[in-house]
Amino acid sequence: MKNILSMSQLSNEEVLNLIDSAIDFKAGKKSEIGQDKFAINLFFENSTRTKSSFQVAEMKLGMKEIEFEASTSSTSKGETLYDTVKTEESIGASVAVIRHSQDKYYEDLVNNHNLKIHIINGGDGTGQHPSQSLLDLMTIYEHFGSFDGLKVGIIGDLSHSRVAHSNAEILTRLGASVCFGGLDSWYTPEFAEIGPHMSVDELCQEMDVVMLLRVQHERLSAEENKNFSKADYFEKYGLDMDRVNMMKPDAMIMHPAPVNRGAEIADDVVECDKSYIFPQMANGVFMRMAMIEAVLEGDNAEDELTGQKCK
Ligand code: CP
Repeated sequence: MKNILSMSQLSNEEVLNLIDSAIDFKAGKKSEIGQDKFAINLFFENSTRTKSSFQVAEMKLGMKEIEFEASTSSTSKGETLYDTVKTEESIGASVAVIRHSQDKYYEDLVNNHNLKIHIINGGDGTGQHPSQSLLDLMTIYEHFGSFDGLKVGIIGDLSHSRVAHSNAEILTRLGASVCFGGLDSWYTPEFAEIGPHMSVDELCQEMDVVMLLRVQHERLSAEENKNFSKADYFEKYGLDMDRVNMMKPDAMIMHPAPVNRGAEIADDVVECDKSYIFPQMANGVFMRMAMIEAVLEGDNAEDELTGQKCK
């Protein structure tokens, strides 16, 4: 595959192959596919996990990272995203991981230009977060060995969440049932088409996976932020130990993080026995290795083809 932009672009087979590949990397598989290649991580929105784990994944594959800080780059002089990406391609980068506030920023790059550089979407606005979704799937698959018939409850700020958009679609496609919780106003028609809205108590009792989302205050209106009470939210929708104790014995708690302790999750739940929050982050490195390898593999096939033609 040339680029990885959204979960809807990937077939079930491609998703399962990426999970297998990430599990192989976790088991110690080595690859030098990135040897002598450069990666650029263009993050125009803040990140800790996604950026750091792509950096580690790139290093583990033998790549070198070209440093980039949006705040000190020439984007502040008006350079467009396309010109920035084309510049990095011209300098020699093979892979660009991009996080941008604009939904579907990648459509212009791939539809209107002829870029050779591989683009991996590190999160677009409220749209998609394929690397997070794939590492979530890997973590669920490691625990349950299948997606078929699983019940997954996604609770929180659905409408602003690229994780909810990516995961709801792909989990359904892989055979899981997806249900939702949180404020009614976040349960928009696109989620209503996928599964029912339930109380957090019901979700805790019935789900195999309870996936929490952060309230994205940076995407709420001033009015919404003014009316928001952390204590009220925690009481109605937060996961505390009483609710954890309602969960099935082998159920999982997941969260893409960063977590807001005391808002959607209690302090003592973050690292409790049922929590896979930090294992998700550890898996993120291996999944991102699998994603980078998958986009670079096409280059090697092309090189071999070119070599054959020259013989
Ligand atoms: N889960 C996630 O995308 O975290 P960061 O924003 O820290 O990258």
